[in-house]
Amino acid sequence: MSGIGIEGGCRLTGEMEIQGSKNAVLPVLAASILHSGVTVFTHVPDIADVRASLEILELLGARTEFRDHFLWIDASEAGPSEIPKELGERMRSSVLFLGPLLARFGEGALYRPGGCAIGKRPVDYHLTGLTRLGAELSCEGERILASARHLTGCSVTLPYPSVGATEQLLLAACGANGPTRILGAAREPEIVTLCRYLKMAGAQIDGEGSTEIVVHGFRPVAREIRFQIPGDRIAAGSYLAAAAVTGGRIHVEGIHPSHLWSTICGFRQMGCDLRLDPEGIFLSAPERLTALPFLSTDPYPAFPTDMQSAFLAMMSLADGESVMEENVFEKRLTMAKELNRMGANIEVEGKRARCTGVERLHGAELQGADLRSGAGLIAAALAADGVSTVNGFEHVERGYENMVEILKSLGAKVWKITE
Ligand code: EPZ
Repeated sequence: MSGIGIEGGCRLTGEMEIQGSKNAVLPVLAASILHSGVTVFTHVPDIADVRASLEILELLGARTEFRDHFLWIDASEAGPSEIPKELGERMRSSVLFLGPLLARFGEGALYRPGGCAIGKRPVDYHLTGLTRLGAELSCEGERILASARHLTGCSVTLPYPSVGATEQLLLAACGANGPTRILGAAREPEIVTLCRYLKMAGAQIDGEGSTEIVVHGFRPVAREIRFQIPGDRIAAGSYLAAAAVTGGRIHVEGIHPSHLWSTICGFRQMGCDLRLDPEGIFLSAPERLTALPFLSTDPYPAFPTDMQSAFLAMMSLADGESVMEENVFEKRLTMAKELNRMGANIEVEGKRARCTGVERLHGAELQGADLRSGAGLIAAALAADGVSTVNGFEHVERGYENMVEILKSLGAKVWKITE
């Protein structure tokens, strides 16, 4: 268990370059199995989930080298080894290796990634979709064994625009005979990034970024692929929120504002002044934020569930009544009780949190249950009076690279606590 100590009351000011995107790099690392050659990735975030993905890739027989955000992968010798439970459960997106293993080798074995603090997080849409493509799946408890003499392209309709299930189907469809049409697909920017990589590896894809994506076919290329990971839009939003809640002014570079549009609108509605350029966002916060009468999370392009915790921290100090509705994950409002221990006034009923903003929060010993609620509590602690400790920092390190140093560079008084 690790924690972070924070002395509140410092405005965050300055500028920063955002890390590579966790939710973009993870599916692309699974996709690198489809390329029986070398891929060189740049701007790769050095975070725990990437390290876990590299352990899985090496277990599958790929060779990897990771230094200074450059990642070299040679998957030419890869094979369908089983991904053990202790490795698979370290990271939710381990399940995404099933599709490429079936596509390239006709078989794969791994364990259900399991639920976490934010919800049950089943993978039924993944498994149903793979079965539609012709995979034979057998489940022994948490263990999933998959095989496919051959995969056949078809139309698959997703009951919900699941990001992971869309990625899973895109990966498996690269091994199918004939076109695969994914209806009701997720539209997140991370889907577009995955399709950009798959096209460089030899896939013919149309419709990415819309609710209907067609994988026409896949002709593996032999040449080396060079691929840059885009900036992390959620990490960018998290740092902007920390500046917003501390009355600060920061410039975050390396992010396309269009990928965070609904979040930018939220910042503006709460009284922040945002200046946008093609590769960056400059935020200047008001003395006190304005309450947001109603904000709900939904699939892209709506307001993202991954920004919910950061905005709940902002609402807890805003002037007036705000309501946050969480529509994506059933247990993602648990951070409210931690904020209330800092003096916030938040009532949670079902999927809604009703927040009456207070003038001050006070420091406390806090527990971050997942990486986004950890980041949200850190933002609140930066604005609070006195000293706080946010435990569960190991969750935050799964997705945020070098957060302590970055916050220090922006003027925060923070320090790492390791037990
Ligand atoms: C991805 O998770 C992200 N993770 C999440 O970010 C993000 O919150 C989520 O998409 C929504 O945008 C990665 O990309 C690694 P979903 P994923 O499938 O793919 C239900 C973070 O903090 N569902 O879109 O797991 C599910 O329970 C993480 O960076 C099923 O019921 O999300 C949830 O209620 C957290 N059956 C909803 O759909 C399934 O088979 C959305 O899940 C799959 C999903």
